[in-house]
Amino acid sequence: EAGGAIAIPLLAWYDRHARRLPWRASPGEPAPDPYRVWLSEVMLQQTTTAAVAPYFARFVDRWPTVGDLAAADEAEVMAAWAGLGYYSRARNLIACARAVASSGGFPDTEEGLRRLPGIGEYTSAAIAAIAFGQRAVVIDANVERVVSRLFAIDEALPAARKAIRVAADEITPADRSGDFAQAMMDLGATICTPRGPRCLLCPLRQKCLAFALDRAEDFPVRAPK
Ligand code: ADE
Repeated sequence: EAGGAIAIPLLAWYDRHARRLPWRASPGEPAPDPYRVWLSEVMLQQTTTAAVAPYFARFVDRWPTVGDLAAADEAEVMAAWAGLGYYSRARNLIACARAVASSGGFPDTEEGLRRLPGIGEYTSAAIAAIAFGQRAVVIDANVERVVSRLFAIDEALPAARKAIRVAADEITPADRSGDFAQAMMDLGATICTPRGPRCLLCPLRQKCLAFALDRAEDFPVRAPK
């Protein structure tokens, strides 16, 4: 998307309306450290922000650095994870902390991050963008919905994912791509919701093809069962 026609209004909206989440820096603060970004993104993989917040606070209180978590008693970490579910995430968390601590810190590229236990395409892009300020295309379910509406992508999921990635890549700015990704997530969580999207409050309304067609709720298209 030439000239940031989407990124500029979206980032301006984010500067006013970003959700204050415990793993984010406050406005004007430097980027949060990679440990906090990694820990929050792993916790958020299958769990809502509201459910994650108290767990995240307890973890960083108990284990303030990746070195502390690497040295932790495994049973204690598993107990602290109890309630978040998907326990393979907790086992990968410990393995990842140990790998990172023994190599002296988090890799700062998507490719390097991808090699760590429990870090896939989404998480590596999120950490590279949010913690390291690298341009990365970050796609979760919220971003998928926002992009499929902006471009009225008519293909059904999962086949639509290729077109969604191409479109997301086009609108991702070189600067502030971590804020851009989190702005897309916040927009998806608060305005561009699965049902009853609040298009009249949306900063991207004038750029949204689905809105122009009065069909926001029709995207993303679901494959018939
Ligand atoms: N869901 C996953 N990662 C998130 C983030 N960084 N901000 C808001 N929601 C999220």
